Amino acid sequence: MFIRPSTLADKAAICDMAFACYGTLLADHYAPEVLKVALPHISHVPDGLVQCGTYFVAVEGDVIMGACGWTDGPRGAEVRKLAVHPDHLRKGIARQLLAHVHGAAHAAGHQRISTAASLNAVPFYRALGYADTGWIKIDTGHADAPFDAVTMVRDL
Ligand SMILES: CC(C)(COP(=O)(O)OP(=O)(O)OC[C@H]1O[C@@H](n2cnc3c(N)ncnc32)[C@H](O)[C@@H]1OP(=O)(O)O)[C@@H](O)C(=O)NCCC(=O)NCCS
Repeated sequence: MFIRPSTLADKAAICDMAFACYGTLLADHYAPEVLKVALPHISHVPDGLVQCGTYFVAVEGDVIMGACGWTDGPRGAEVRKLAVHPDHLRKGIARQLLAHVHGAAHAAGHQRISTAASLNAVPFYRALGYADTGWIKIDTGHADAPFDAVTMVRDL
């Protein structure tokens, strides 16, 4: 497996992988009516992110097994759209992707990075040294189906 920046040509495969990932792994932590409206929203990886140079894919052969990146947001460096295909969990793919992201954000001058973790991903982020800082409700475009997430931060 190797990790490289994504390109626009990867977009469809990334979105398919993210849809499979979130659709499978979030199901135990969110109500079906929330997932139904949130899934298209959170699985969509926009063109700007895919080709920004700081969004990365973990690849084996032609297969995209996982993806994650970072961007400079209002709160500094932020983790963006972490997903690993459900067929490839617990092989250290997310750990390697995050290490790549941390290194890139640090090299760009950031001292800390934050994330809005879906509830299922909180133990993973804690294992990688992130600390909880609060709760937020992410807007899904449907006022009656907000998406709960935990805000977390880690020094780089
Ligand atoms: C969370 C996620 C990215 C982890 O991906 P992964 O490649 O399986 O994770 P890794 O193999 O790198 O795991 C690294 C460590 O994190 C911890 N960890 C990973 N998944 C975990 C889980 N489900 N429960 C508890 N700890 C977990 C473990 O300590 C693990 O180390 P170990 O396997 O040696 O015990 C994956 O489950 C996923 O894609 N979830 C759905 C999408 C998502 O929630 N994205 C984040 C949105 S903010």
